[in-house]
Amino acid sequence: MPWLWLMRMDGLSIKSFLQSATFSAFSIFAPMKKISLTGIKPTGTPHLGNYLGAIRPALELSKTYDTVYFIADYHALTTVQNGAEMRANIYKIAATWLALGLNPEEGLFYKQSDIPEIFELSWALSCFTPKGFMNRAHAYKDKVAKNEAAGEDPDANVNMGLYCYPCLMDADILMFSADIVPVGKDQKQHLEVTRDIAIRFNNHYGDILTIPEPMIQEEVAVIPGLDGQKMSKSYGNAIEIFGEGKAIRSRFMKIVTDSTPMEALKNPDTCNIFKLFKLMATPEEQEELRARYLAGGMGYGHAKQALYEKYIEYFAPMRERRKHLLENPKEVEDILQYGAERARKVAQATLTRARIAVGLE
Ligand code: ADP
Ligand code: TRP
Repeated sequence: MPWLWLMRMDGLSIKSFLQSATFSAFSIFAPMKKISLTGIKPTGTPHLGNYLGAIRPALELSKTYDTVYFIADYHALTTVQNGAEMRANIYKIAATWLALGLNPEEGLFYKQSDIPEIFELSWALSCFTPKGFMNRAHAYKDKVAKNEAAGEDPDANVNMGLYCYPCLMDADILMFSADIVPVGKDQKQHLEVTRDIAIRFNNHYGDILTIPEPMIQEEVAVIPGLDGQKMSKSYGNAIEIFGEGKAIRSRFMKIVTDSTPMEALKNPDTCNIFKLFKLMATPEEQEELRARYLAGGMGYGHAKQALYEKYIEYFAPMRERRKHLLENPKEVEDILQYGAERARKVAQATLTRARIAVGLE
């Protein structure tokens, strides 16, 4: 656990510890697990595509990596600009990840805004970031393209937070010496910028920052939504993770299928209902439903019901835990506070190294 030794620094100032032989020897020789880091923006309600395609695979990494998960609240501020909504989103996303299995004792879990050191590092890194990189960053470019298509000023409604988004992301990642960053394909360009900036900084000042690798899980199939397209909150085809009651059952009943008649046998491997079922069911349950598809006489309505029941059962313990956390925000606050205290020690150490390198200390 790399965090543990940083936390045992009592009695030594961070600066003298970092300059000590123990630190250099430890960082060179000690066998440590690699670090996996990922940020989660507190926007919207997470859906099955987020869980099966991103959250579950990211949580599984805790078996092989030291993990860092954080809530990217200042990134969300580029779009979420209502205080009450932001506060509610933060609790909701924290409770969701904790309920889905994030263990706050293992690795680190914190809110980005609780680590002020990140913003100082972000400024230092921005001084090594060519402005052209930001001009080419996809979120900014997409917005400009949309404005131009609408005949508006190219920079209409573009705030500096959106423009400089990648600079903050660089600091998020480099601060915690991440080796790998599990992200969706859309974040690949941001990771390329982060790697480039870290290499520039190291070429200038020596081996200060760890160069991260993106981990893009190509093998996690794109999770289909109700209409068979990629499930996404912006396509209106999503099934939320913690839906309840009749409303959520009727979402499942809306999954689009072909028109094979009830009595005919059906192909499970081309059916979106079965695709979703497989991701939550045990091998025996999968075989059983597969056999029903292949036997004929089962309508898609039955398959939808089986999927709905599986979903309710799969998420039942997590739903309970989430409900408990949402009713007890103090517990969530304490967990985030605990994470922030531990994360700040790591952040202070990296920042001190960077400040010494650039000549501020
Ligand atoms: P949305 O498309 O609903 O806006 P986000 O862009 O917020 O979702 O995605 C958050 C994470 O979930 C990303 O890592 C993304 O790759 C993953 N993700 C979102 N939808 C899917 C999907 N349908 N299948 C697989 N992964 C997904
Ligand atoms: N930009 C990421 C997204 O939109 C969120 C994020 C912020 C992030 N900082 C990060 C992801 C650092 C990975 C690492 O989903």
